[in-house]
Amino acid sequence: MARAIGTYELLPTNEDTPLPTPAVQHDRFSWGPRNFCSRLFAFRRARYFLGFILLALCLLIPYRLYERHASKYPPLYEKYHAKELALPQHNPDLPYPEGREGKYLWVSAHLDGGFGWGNFMQELILDAYLAHKDGRAFVFDNYTWDRHGPEYSEYHGHLIPSRIPLTALLAGPIVGGPFPGVDHSPRSVRKEYFDTVCPDPVKIKGNDLIDTYVWGPTTILVEKWLERLELTNSKCIEVVEGSQQMFSLWTFGTTNVLSLWPDLVKSPIITGFRWSPLVEAGYAKNIPLINPPSVTHPSHYGETYPYTALGGLLALQIRRGDFEEHCVNLLNWGANWQGFNRFPELPDQFVAVPGAGTFNISDEARAEHLKRCYPTPGQIADRVREIMQTDAGRNLENVYIMTNGQPDFIAEVKEALRGVKAWGSIKSSRDLIVTREQDYVKQAIDMLIGIRAQVLIGNGWSSMSSNIVMLRMALVDLAPDHHRFWFDLHMLNLLAIAQSLANKIVQVV
Ligand SMILES: *[C@@H]1O[C@H](CO)[C@@H](O)[C@H](O)[C@H]1NC(C)=O
Ligand SMILES: *[C@@H]1O[C@H](CO)[C@@H](O)[C@H](O)[C@H]1NC(C)=O
Repeated sequence: MARAIGTYELLPTNEDTPLPTPAVQHDRFSWGPRNFCSRLFAFRRARYFLGFILLALCLLIPYRLYERHASKYPPLYEKYHAKELALPQHNPDLPYPEGREGKYLWVSAHLDGGFGWGNFMQELILDAYLAHKDGRAFVFDNYTWDRHGPEYSEYHGHLIPSRIPLTALLAGPIVGGPFPGVDHSPRSVRKEYFDTVCPDPVKIKGNDLIDTYVWGPTTILVEKWLERLELTNSKCIEVVEGSQQMFSLWTFGTTNVLSLWPDLVKSPIITGFRWSPLVEAGYAKNIPLINPPSVTHPSHYGETYPYTALGGLLALQIRRGDFEEHCVNLLNWGANWQGFNRFPELPDQFVAVPGAGTFNISDEARAEHLKRCYPTPGQIADRVREIMQTDAGRNLENVYIMTNGQPDFIAEVKEALRGVKAWGSIKSSRDLIVTREQDYVKQAIDMLIGIRAQVLIGNGWSSMSSNIVMLRMALVDLAPDHHRFWFDLHMLNLLAIAQSLANKIVQVV
């Protein structure tokens, strides 16, 4: 039936369900005096019946409207906000180093202009690390897509929460949990509490130091920040909004950040790193389908925490969507991989394709670059085949595809992967079974799966990959050859040889 589906498509219409007509009733009851009582009785019953229907409608319509509203608008995590505001360390009477005599660092300059969780998270970790290093309570607010706008933002045609309380994503010391072991550092607090205990903070600016020191080892930047905090001689410090982050995108986009690693990896910010109960619950629910037990790996999805390696699982990170354009920009800029994707001990190291950064790039070089940034299903399958021949890649049985790709693309990838081997299970981000609240933090569930997979193939330019690789290096007992990228050194060498040959020929001629 070619009928426009309107708002009330679920309500019956005359055309679909004809109401009984009086004529029908005439057949059942005649108007004789003998039937008068039963007629009256039936009439009364009909009234009760009608009343009941009306009552049901009165209850059902608001419920349906509520449901429609609820499914159209993302959750706002009110309970998480309330729980954060009720943290026990929000008490000025607590003894030093907490309470009114304690020291606090509020980085209001943090990212907030439509950056993804990957970028937000890497900055968050270093801010919290710096605060802890200085014996200050780290002051946190929300994962912020848009700080001052309405509660919802539009993203690629659908609504997302503009701000998500961090405890919907994380647990542990960054968001107010206790520090592991015998660390008596002041616990993190919410911004709202900071406002009460620090009504008049000393204000400093991110660009006091970042412009000068972002280009050197991040250890020096941290040293300079510690000196700067000391210099304020104040227990309450705010890095003002809009003055640049204390650790900017260049910190993480270069290997400068790696200088910090030996110290960062020992920091309770990393050793005590944990995803939220919401994220862990999403993981626990889905992992039996993603990495089902097998003969080789009989019980292998393990406990939810700690984050041990999941034997048999291969995780692929395949960025789509915005990366179609972004990958070309990266090539034109000659952008290198993210710092935490460039640990020297990793087997795949970034090598620029010939002409990268010049805007004058041959088709071959462009194709080579896209293979590493935006691989096709066939190239993905080839790379998986390659990895399966390495020591780390033996016994892989299941694949999990972390992706923002469209369903038809994912179907093609799955099809190509089926040509590699008879996998136990091939699942993607789109197969995750999640609640409404988990739906908007799904990326973190992906990350937890990626962190624990036996082998990861990530995207070198992606901050999400770099966070996963960093946490794999820190928390999961896996050798560096288990952290791989979309890459083809063999092809690159051939290209380089061809290029230098061409140059020589040109010189000779
Ligand atoms: C965090 O987000 C909530 C919900 O949008 C908002 O009410 C609150 O003011 C935000 N907190 C801060 C410190 O920005
Ligand atoms: C682009 O690169 C080719 C080969 O590397 C070179 O011959 C040509 O002069 C370059 N063009 C520009 C505009 O730089």
